[in-house]
Amino acid sequence: MTTQPVRPVSDAPSGSATPITLEFVRDHPRVKAYIRMADAALEQIGYTEHGERHVSLVSRIAFNVLTRMGRPARECELAAIAGLLHDIGNAVNRDHHAQTGATMAMQILNEFGMQDMEVLQVIAAIGNHHENDGDPVNPIAAAVILADKSDVHRTRVRNPDMIKFDIHDRVNYAVEKSFLNVDEKAKQITLELTLDPKISNAMEYFEIFMTRMLASRKAAKFLGASFGLSVNGNRLV
Ligand SMILES: [Fe+2]
Ligand SMILES: [Fe+2]
Repeated sequence: MTTQPVRPVSDAPSGSATPITLEFVRDHPRVKAYIRMADAALEQIGYTEHGERHVSLVSRIAFNVLTRMGRPARECELAAIAGLLHDIGNAVNRDHHAQTGATMAMQILNEFGMQDMEVLQVIAAIGNHHENDGDPVNPIAAAVILADKSDVHRTRVRNPDMIKFDIHDRVNYAVEKSFLNVDEKAKQITLELTLDPKISNAMEYFEIFMTRMLASRKAAKFLGASFGLSVNGNRLV
């Protein structure tokens, strides 16, 4: 019987000496395919848009949140990478997509040659981004949670005919503008929504997004800030 050679386990972290950049991850055809197929699966089960638009936005907002909060540049870039990959688990199943996506991202980033300690931070963020079963376990996770929960917008609704029947579609469709305002001096992170009251209202927003708000508050607190919500210029929280 032949025995398989065992790969030596090194104490030194694996990965290439050159950091894996956001551009490299973003432009890689495998990443693009995973993002596309995750969104295609969600389209089949009637979910709002979770594709390139959503993940690129989450990537940018997560980067901006940490930058504004004065975090190190590489940490900001890792948050952008985590934002880009955070929803790929939906390509497998909506349930537990955060955790599935984290293990998928681990494989991808390992193959790209990212350092172990960086991979670990990114996958912790991805595995914790969902409001029902996630926590801000590190600054990158906190940034991705805040960014992900801030993407409520009309453009996410795939079929506007459904807004009468589906509260998620209706609330998303009502939002004409959403902006996550980070005031680093006041240590205040505010989600500012412009919502068409003829379509939906703040009450419906609270009805479906209460857990998201609580997750955002926890994430802001982790970064040393408080979280607020304003709708049509009125501060509600
Ligand atoms: Fe998600
Ligand atoms: Fe998401």
